[in-house]
Amino acid sequence: MKFGRVKPLDAILATAKAKSLEPTLGWFQLTLFGIGCVIGTGIFVLTSAGAQKAGPGLMLAFAIAGLICIVAALCYAEIAAMIPVAGSAYTYTYSVMGELLAWTVGWALVLEYAVAASAVAVGWSGYFSGTILNQFFGIELPAWLAGGPLALGGVPGGFINLPAVVIAGLVTWLLMIGTNESAKVNAVLVAIKVTALTVFIVLTLPQSEMANFNPFLPAGVFGGFGSGVGAVGAAATIFFAYVGFDAVSTAAEETKDPQRNVPIGLIGSLGFCTVFYILVAAGAIGTIGGQPIMGPGGVPFPAGSEALAQQCALPQYADMLVCSNEALAHVLRMIGFSTVGNLLGIAAFVALPSVILILLFGQTRIFFVMSRDGLLPESLSKIHPKWKTPYIVTAITGAVVAFAAAFLPVGQLADIANAGTLYAFAMVAVAVMMLRKSEPTRERKFRVPALWLVGPATIAGCIFLFLNLPFEAMIVLPAWGGIGLVIYYLYGYKSSHLGKGIVTVVDLDNDPAHIPHP
Ligand code: ALA
Repeated sequence: MKFGRVKPLDAILATAKAKSLEPTLGWFQLTLFGIGCVIGTGIFVLTSAGAQKAGPGLMLAFAIAGLICIVAALCYAEIAAMIPVAGSAYTYTYSVMGELLAWTVGWALVLEYAVAASAVAVGWSGYFSGTILNQFFGIELPAWLAGGPLALGGVPGGFINLPAVVIAGLVTWLLMIGTNESAKVNAVLVAIKVTALTVFIVLTLPQSEMANFNPFLPAGVFGGFGSGVGAVGAAATIFFAYVGFDAVSTAAEETKDPQRNVPIGLIGSLGFCTVFYILVAAGAIGTIGGQPIMGPGGVPFPAGSEALAQQCALPQYADMLVCSNEALAHVLRMIGFSTVGNLLGIAAFVALPSVILILLFGQTRIFFVMSRDGLLPESLSKIHPKWKTPYIVTAITGAVVAFAAAFLPVGQLADIANAGTLYAFAMVAVAVMMLRKSEPTRERKFRVPALWLVGPATIAGCIFLFLNLPFEAMIVLPAWGGIGLVIYYLYGYKSSHLGKGIVTVVDLDNDPAHIPHP
């Protein structure tokens, strides 16, 4: 199964050979790195959207999405340790399934990274407006600056989400001038996030009441194809809370004893987050309840829809979990811990921008590699003489991220990001299985145990979640893919370096596309 030109694995690995990194990372650093990339808007904000889709079944949703991510993470780990070069799923696909599919994966990764960055920016905006502006300074942003238009699922009277635009712009600027998160900063931010969530669990769980978990599955397990509701519909949305772990697998090459430490790091960080997420969901729902607002026919109103926004504007619903833009802080305030709620809001305010930074960084580096391969204009990969960063592609990506964040609600952005991510994850699993057949003797620093089970489970899990996304998010993937194919045949097919017989070998020690790890 090869589509188009295949970049020889040896040519790709030649780039890795130029790299002389000492393996220094142990399982603990990897786990810390994973938690830093993963905990963000998903748990701090999307808990509301998840509850609107599944009610208390949100807890089951976190378990389902977590399991699928763990099997996908194992596949990532094997291929990342084997092909440890920039470009992630795009590069792996290029060497195994050919240029055409690689292009589609690179194109889908825009959804994973850029759209996810927009979603986190919108999530951050909720905490900025609610906690920082409102609670501390008593400032209420005018509606037209506080969110996107109501017709797109924003706020009544909304036009643009100004805080989201500002944070996306700020992070873009930091990346352009060459800012990178250090291991120390990551460790501090992880400590802040984990402390905030732990305090949340400790304060809410003892106050939980069983009655709030009943009915446990108000929208059922399967809400139906394209409906995006039910426990599985919620799993497809809060899958977003796990996005970003692929960054860990790309650190495989710098890990001591990767066969042991990479799976511990991946499964450790994902397992840790899964347990935490389920407990947080239990605390939130157990205290203030998390039943969805039902629409016609007893089906929950779609999260991020105009209809739901209108319901949430009514006084009797305004305080419900499913209506909050800062879910966790809101819960704490509702049960009498206003100060702690505000502190949690500050934790989100401080920590979420680093998730935007990691995602935007990932996006610009993938574009960079694609343009270095000739599939996108080479002018995009121009390096700034002073900052030493691919500043043009960073600026363009930042502008697009800010634009999407300006007008769309967090839930819809997350669903779109998930669609692209699920496609990339499935392709990685296919690539791992194909490489086992085509290159059985090549050295693997980490081998997925029981790949015959884990590989197909990853692919099936990704397809399953994809089919449970809301229809509008599902349709974005083929539509976006179609646009990508037109661009490929108009531009990339002719300009591809591989097509022209140019094989690029780069010195990774001086390669701006290489993603440094803490
Ligand atoms: N997993 C990341 C978050 O929830 C993207 O913000």
